[in-house]
Amino acid sequence: MSTYHIAVIAGDGIGREIMPAAVAALDAVAALSGFGVALEHFPWGSEHYLERGRMMPEDALDVLRPFDAIFFGAVGDPRIQDNVTLNGLLLPIRRGFDQYACVRPAVLYPGVRSPLVGRKGGDIDFVVVRENTEGEYAQIGGGLYPDTPQEVAMQTATFTRYGTERVIRFAFDLARRRSRKRLVTSVTKSNAQGYSMAFWDRVFTAVARDYPDIRTESLLVDAACMDLVRRPNDFDVMVASNLFGDILTDLSAAITGSLGLAPSANLNPARTAPSLFEPVHGSAPDIAGKGIANPLAAMLAGAMMLDFLGEKEAAGRVEQAVRGVLAEGTAVTPDLGGSGTTRSVTDAVLARIQRDAG
Ligand code: NAD
Ligand code: IPM
Ligand code: MN
Repeated sequence: MSTYHIAVIAGDGIGREIMPAAVAALDAVAALSGFGVALEHFPWGSEHYLERGRMMPEDALDVLRPFDAIFFGAVGDPRIQDNVTLNGLLLPIRRGFDQYACVRPAVLYPGVRSPLVGRKGGDIDFVVVRENTEGEYAQIGGGLYPDTPQEVAMQTATFTRYGTERVIRFAFDLARRRSRKRLVTSVTKSNAQGYSMAFWDRVFTAVARDYPDIRTESLLVDAACMDLVRRPNDFDVMVASNLFGDILTDLSAAITGSLGLAPSANLNPARTAPSLFEPVHGSAPDIAGKGIANPLAAMLAGAMMLDFLGEKEAAGRVEQAVRGVLAEGTAVTPDLGGSGTTRSVTDAVLARIQRDAG
């Protein structure tokens, strides 16, 4: 029996509420599909920072490296500046482990109401591939003359040919594997950003030549936002820079019902270091501690982790159970218009996993 070693970082806020739920689903399907999961929990995050002045220990990446995968909740605490928390934990892991392809599916499940009039379950099914190691998130910059009228702040978006080409290639390969509309939509702002984004467009065109079986489309990010509202059903695979991918995926989560349903895989496709799986959402301080956070995004992220580890059957069990609970509509958290709780939705998914297994 194979056993997967998973590092669990629940983090802050609702991260601590949804992760036990997602881990319970993981344990349940592992038992049914006949493999082991050995979990190690790391109490890193904002409490750790307040106690010790660091979000995670200095050697955290060395500690995490031997694991098969990292299962992550969320970080962010109103008492600490967000760039301290995120640059102290999540972003260094994405970069340090070369998790360059951030894969964020956007699926409108049957039983879920989209805020877009007339869209029903099954209508929306695309994936955003977000560049995850450089671009606008490259920590290159600086400042001068703090707290004076002359203050200067610079943050340099950094695009390399290596980084741009590999993520675009990943998107084309994914469109092939999905074998749906066989379409890759590149999203840039090359009308305004004549260096970085015009460069991205050139790389996109060059890579596309290697995929004559895949159709292509290039959109400016402002128009892409409009089209995600106007014609979301047309998309298949979208590929975008770090920042644009971030923005597009809160929007894609909203049109498919809720951030509470949107999973994310931060992949190191070469498998030279562990990949990290998490919900798209953050620590949601506005609902933290109330027991009403939707655990389904984290559960679906767990399914993506199982799929990446090669446990397709177990991944399918989680996804099918989530689909079933959504279609049934009896255990529904408030973000989806219900009055259910993290607990009731988790119980419903766990029951369904057993029922579907017969
Ligand atoms: P957020 O994603 O935490 O919340 C946005 C809104 O969506 C809130 O109204 C929240 O209640 C709701 N929501 C999010 N997840 C939900 C769930 N599972 N169930 C029900 N409702 C849910 O974004 P924010 O409010 O902009 O950020 C809060 C903190 O989280 C900040 O510190 C931010 O930096 C951080 N953040 C962290 C991550 C991460 O760790 N990956 C991602 C995004 C934001
Ligand atoms: C996400 C989050 C992070 C990002 C933040 C918290 C740094 O919004 O995973 O979407 O922008 O990558
Ligand atoms: Mn985001």
